Amino acid sequence: MIQHSIFVWSISIIVANFATLSSIMDFTSNSCILGLSPMDDVTDFPFRSLCKEFGADILYTEFIAAEGLNHDAFKSKRKMTISDAQRPVGVQIFGADEKELIKCLESVESVSPDFVDINWGCPVSKVASRGAGSGMLKDIPKLLKITQSVVRHSSVPVTVKTRLGYDDDSRCIATLARQLQDVGIAMLAIHGRTKTQMYRGLADWKAIGEVKNDPQIHIPIYGNGDIVEARQAVGMYNRYGVDGVLIGRGAIGNPWIFEQTKRLMQGLPEREITVAERVDVCLKHLLASIDFFGEHTGLIVMKRHYAAYFKGLYNFKQFRTLLMEARTMDELMPLFDRISDYYSDKDGREACS
Ligand SMILES: Cc1cc2nc3c(=O)[nH]c(=O)nc-3n(C[C@H](O)[C@H](O)[C@H](O)COP(=O)(O)O)c2cc1C
Repeated sequence: MIQHSIFVWSISIIVANFATLSSIMDFTSNSCILGLSPMDDVTDFPFRSLCKEFGADILYTEFIAAEGLNHDAFKSKRKMTISDAQRPVGVQIFGADEKELIKCLESVESVSPDFVDINWGCPVSKVASRGAGSGMLKDIPKLLKITQSVVRHSSVPVTVKTRLGYDDDSRCIATLARQLQDVGIAMLAIHGRTKTQMYRGLADWKAIGEVKNDPQIHIPIYGNGDIVEARQAVGMYNRYGVDGVLIGRGAIGNPWIFEQTKRLMQGLPEREITVAERVDVCLKHLLASIDFFGEHTGLIVMKRHYAAYFKGLYNFKQFRTLLMEARTMDELMPLFDRISDYYSDKDGREACS
């Protein structure tokens, strides 16, 4: 009997170790890792799947309030939906309370993400004013304590996404990166702006590069900010040697940006995206949104994407208004046909004003 339980015990240790090993993911590669930067109300399940299909290597959920998960809030739980096809995918959490953040790990781990990301970068006042997101950049000791505690309690790697500092007078990223590395995070993604900058000015990639090229830094560093064209992603990668580039707004209406970047990195020219392909992919996105959210919410969610899919097309305003006003799929479907017909004799470039 004793022998039997020792046998079962040893097997469970082997299984447990294997589980730990298999959950360790590599945030580096021989080439640049291209990630879809998390965006609330944008990088939902359907959009993430689309970006994956077009070459995004790594995905994050939208940020999810730890307290929402702990209260079983439907929308917070829905944001955690991931699929195997999306892997590697991380669940991004935010909050200012250590206990809440630790507690929510139980729900997070129930969906088996490849990593958990802590958002220490959101500048939006309803988040930052409560000390969450980039609000925590005002209290670095607390930020480090919470991060360390999440690392200790998480069964999957913990990463952090943050900004250069709270404001220009307190840019702390060089020191903060070392401190975060010391508390055990597996990767750091840096948006090259401060909290007070919000989205103004330009992302400071030089500052990101300095962290990456700090000889004391050995965790992977991903850069983020203002990449809207494939050549910019290649440029930042070549110039600063970051391990990964996260693309946010530049992927809205342009999930091809990942594929195009990979083509450039392989020495291939960018592929022309025709209007017909834009229509097809936008429609596919719409159908996936309806499938995921239901018709009512799916249609509302897509309103954030239409203009971006067809950006630059001449005379598109008439269609944009109709797309925004449509209330049912029955109204929308013929519109896609009309857009296709209208631009059918032109390629992408010709169709641009
Ligand atoms: C609408 C919107 C929502 C965002 N939501 C999140 C979020 O949930 N989590 C996060 O870490 N960053 C969020 N961000 C910041 C982006 O991930 C990214 O850091 C920022 O937009 C800069 O990168 P970009 O210039 O490539 O867009 C959001 C940005 C936008 C525009």
